[in-house]
Amino acid sequence: MSKELPNKPRKSRKKAIQTDSIGPPAQLPSSDEMKIDPSGNELIQSVATPAIKKPLLQKTFIQGEAIKLFKKKAREVLLVGGSRSGKTFIIIYRQLELAVQNPGSRHLIARYRFNHVKNSVWADTLRKVVKLGFPDVKVSWRRSDYYLELENGSQIWLAGLDDKDRTEKILGMEFLTVFLNEASQISYGAYTTIKTRLAQLIAGVPPMLFVDANPPGKSTGCTRSSSGILNPKPI
Ligand SMILES: Nc1ncnc2c1ncn2[C@@H]1O[C@H](COP(=O)(O)OP(=O)(O)O)[C@@H](O)[C@H]1O
Ligand SMILES: [Mg+2]
Repeated sequence: MSKELPNKPRKSRKKAIQTDSIGPPAQLPSSDEMKIDPSGNELIQSVATPAIKKPLLQKTFIQGEAIKLFKKKAREVLLVGGSRSGKTFIIIYRQLELAVQNPGSRHLIARYRFNHVKNSVWADTLRKVVKLGFPDVKVSWRRSDYYLELENGSQIWLAGLDDKDRTEKILGMEFLTVFLNEASQISYGAYTTIKTRLAQLIAGVPPMLFVDANPPGKSTGCTRSSSGILNPKPI
């Protein structure tokens, strides 16, 4: 006596391949790679496929979150994080992005000691951000005055608040963004004075203050003397 087997649905190999991935399955050659010869046989030709261009700049997760924060309504943003967590890098990236988007805009990066901003930001971070984030933007490094000029006329200035002459010159200018780097070294007085320079008028783009600092437990002067900058608030 023969036992009838139930009709088992047969898995289609083709279907399994198709549902494995979105878009053309990786196992099959693309139309560029596949050629049909006159005899009707498929000839699989190995044609070099152009490599997918990987973006040079890879943001960390938290840097992505910072960018989202920068695009919200607050006009003052403080980033607090451990040393080398990427705070300075991502703020300068945003300043450059705004410089590219707004021809003729001016941006300031200020730190307490000019020597420190020169050695860390000018010689390192700024170069890295330009190279990785804006490889196609033509940039002139005005070394005699320590500012950077983009081809659209936007400028990024560096300042050290310990350099009186330079600070006076900077205070005569108006900026679209100001970045107070390592705020724990900057007095509340300097913070309020510098804020008055956030006065460049560009339609539809409100001026913005960026501040970075190490975690409050580790910093000293700033968090006690200028607690106002710890609370992002609209200007
Ligand atoms: N997304 C990134 N891609 C490449 N290098 C980065 C990136 N973020 C930060 N860096 C580099 O890592 C180092 C630490 O970043 P930095 O912004 O100076 O940290 P922090 O200001 O938090 O101390 C620097 O050399 C900086 O150029
Ligand atoms: Mg830093």
